[in-house]
Amino acid sequence: MSEADLKHKIKSYYTESVKEEWRRLAKGPISRLEFETTIRFLNEYLPKSGSILDAGSGPGRYAFTLAKKCYKLTLFDFTPANLDFARRKIKRDNMQDRIIGTVEGTLDDLSAFESNSFDAVICLGGPLSHVMSEKKRRKAAKELIRVAKHGAPIFVSVMNKMSAMMGFVRLFQKELAAQYFEGYLKNGDYPGGYGFTAYHGFQPEELRGLFAKAGTKIVLTAALEGFGSYSEKDLKKLYRNKKRWKIWVRAHNSTVTHPSSVGISQHILLICRKP
Ligand SMILES: C[S@@+](CC[C@H](N)C(=O)[O-])C[C@H]1O[C@@H](n2cnc3c(N)ncnc32)[C@H](O)[C@@H]1O
Repeated sequence: MSEADLKHKIKSYYTESVKEEWRRLAKGPISRLEFETTIRFLNEYLPKSGSILDAGSGPGRYAFTLAKKCYKLTLFDFTPANLDFARRKIKRDNMQDRIIGTVEGTLDDLSAFESNSFDAVICLGGPLSHVMSEKKRRKAAKELIRVAKHGAPIFVSVMNKMSAMMGFVRLFQKELAAQYFEGYLKNGDYPGGYGFTAYHGFQPEELRGLFAKAGTKIVLTAALEGFGSYSEKDLKKLYRNKKRWKIWVRAHNSTVTHPSSVGISQHILLICRKP
């Protein structure tokens, strides 16, 4: 499938799933791990106030959360339906002075924004994984860095190639015989079509290398779901027992940057800083 066809496929998927995307991070324990672990690191590494570009914002779950604090958000996404949803919500919640822009465009071209203009840049929940050519991923990384001010933190979370191996055993055994599987093992490219759309699965070192080579200082990589990855059913059971869930979350938090946990986590979060 050509790059343009893949892009069209990804955009169509997100056009059809705006409400689902809005609900995604508040849906169940596995998504809560993704969301709450990300928020923990945002709280820790964001400046106290300032402007934030949310690149690949979707309908804006992170943007609305941060806009309620002391930040001014600009949303950026290539799916117009997501931005329309956000615009309606901004109006309804009277957040025009906090969410100051909703811009349509693609991650590898942030020419709508000037260089060195944001106090922080976030690109969360996998938008960079949906950039299917390596060359464009390099361009996108450079663009995310270009628009950040010197010293600003950049937060990027992506889908993890190796983590999906657990998914193949636990949930997607039928796909082992699918045509794409050998290719996925080699290059991490999933063409979509089995309940999710096309994405590139990253290795942690690949993600770190991409942003280090583009000139940032790597702060850390973290496991957003960690050892709970691809265990939704078990996590739901654990979540029903509040005492055990609390202990599990504490264990997750204490292992969140360990290479073993990062290596198998469904989503990996990278934090880096523009020099
Ligand atoms: C899984 S959603 C994540 C949304 C949001 N950041 C979150 O974490 O809830 C991925 C988003 O990336 C957007 N996206 C995918 N490829 C993109 C690209 N090349 N340029 C801009 N946005 C893109 C999609 O439209 C979608 O809204």
